[in-house]
Amino acid sequence: MQAAGNAYQNYLGPVKTDVKPEYTPASDGSKMRALAWFGNKDVRMVDAPVPDITEPEDVILKVTGTTICGSDLHLYHGEIMTMQKGDILGHEFMGVIDKVGPGVLHLQPGQRVVASFQIACGKCSYCQRKLSSFCDRTNNSSLQNVMYGHRDAGFFGYSHFTGGFPGGQAEFVRVPKGEVNLLPVPDEVTDEQALYLSDIIPTSYHAVVDTGVEKGEVVGIWGLGPIGLCAARWCQLKGASRVIGIDRVSERLAMAKNKLGIETLDFSQYSDVPKRLADLVPGGIDVGIDCGTFHEPKTITHKVQKLMMLETDSPETLNEMLLAVRKQGKIGLIAAYAGFANGVNVGALMEKGIRLTGNGQAPVHLYWKEILHDYIMTGKFDPTLVLTHRVPLEDMPKLYAAFDKRQSGVEKVFVETRFSSPPSKGCPTLTRVDEWSARN
Ligand SMILES: NC(=O)c1ccc[n+]([C@@H]2O[C@H](COP(=O)([O-])OP(=O)(O)OC[C@H]3O[C@@H](n4cnc5c(N)ncnc54)[C@H](O)[C@@H]3O)[C@@H](O)[C@H]2O)c1
Ligand SMILES: [Zn+2]
Ligand SMILES: [Zn+2]
Repeated sequence: MQAAGNAYQNYLGPVKTDVKPEYTPASDGSKMRALAWFGNKDVRMVDAPVPDITEPEDVILKVTGTTICGSDLHLYHGEIMTMQKGDILGHEFMGVIDKVGPGVLHLQPGQRVVASFQIACGKCSYCQRKLSSFCDRTNNSSLQNVMYGHRDAGFFGYSHFTGGFPGGQAEFVRVPKGEVNLLPVPDEVTDEQALYLSDIIPTSYHAVVDTGVEKGEVVGIWGLGPIGLCAARWCQLKGASRVIGIDRVSERLAMAKNKLGIETLDFSQYSDVPKRLADLVPGGIDVGIDCGTFHEPKTITHKVQKLMMLETDSPETLNEMLLAVRKQGKIGLIAAYAGFANGVNVGALMEKGIRLTGNGQAPVHLYWKEILHDYIMTGKFDPTLVLTHRVPLEDMPKLYAAFDKRQSGVEKVFVETRFSSPPSKGCPTLTRVDEWSARN
């Protein structure tokens, strides 16, 4: 799939954009440690050139915190097109500014900032509305244009399908259009509170707001990874009357129950999820939000179809939601999908008058200031809700494998570099992935 995608992209040639994906290496030849992709379930630490200012509006960041996301697992499994050997991954990171380009007027070296996972131009019609993930001018993938009719923004460390920008699972990152894509972090906010503004906190917020969860509604959340758990919390804050979290990972189900007090449904015990939901909520749930993952089909039918490349994505969760929501109910897809799925119950969608929303890649810039000031700094939303482990950057390859297997109760990880501050009070202390217990 990678070879075919890359060949087709080469044939089409890149779309002209406002930003260059490649960076200029530092002139003194200095190197940094970084996590790079080499193939299916093959990621390695490499010595890569430290980036230098490449375009006038660039900022070079010394990374003080990074992490792994469920979206990285799609890359790890080779499910996203146009990966190239040696691509530096990572789209969620924060740091201290090391250098600024001559076009950067409002940020200075030494400032503490968090990056958005998307690289926005700040000027196009989408950016003017802060819809940063939909920016028109930063992703050069003509392949995405062909597949979707339009392109997303460029993303850090997320394949050449999203622009081919080196990512932040590294000691340094070049942030194009730094003033647009970095948010200064106030002194009173800890690194553990700030890092997840990069993605999962605005993303889960967007899922709930964009799908239209209203006061008093009953919401089902498929998948209790970091996105699902945070989305459940946002549903509570938005006044949902009941939230039911669906997963099969025992630690994640326990976390949702114990930390948030939501109801849970273990699909390893209740394989017919819509039936179980109908028992729990006669008449159907009001809203379903997909926070799962398209690369883990659970039925033989879709395992086989995916294996034979008859479909790229599984529609199982969508179909479960179509059965479980009430007539005129709402469905949101915040979980990433890549291509095509067979056997979608389009009849239920139409006949039940269901409002289906593709939430898109979340526009982080639309929400991050509001979340920081109104929810994190006021204590209404605690980002460390999802934080379970802290590991060093050198453990990144082992972390991919452990996070993929959901080993040792892992939910969200803080990955430290040699530039990180010590862990904040009450947050996980440093562990090595080798010390984690195996998942049985
Ligand atoms: N749209 C965006 O902007 C955006 C941003 C970040 C992440 N995402 C996506 O959100 C999803 C969740 O991310 P995460 O970091 O929480 O991932 P994760 O892999 O840690 O969690 C996914 C959870 O879904 C569960 N799951 C798998 N199949 C299921 C099924 N059939 N029914 C119910 N649960 C199921 C898994 O057991 C797992 O606990 C991923 O698809 C990720 O790519 C989207
Ligand atoms: Zn992410
Ligand atoms: Zn733009």
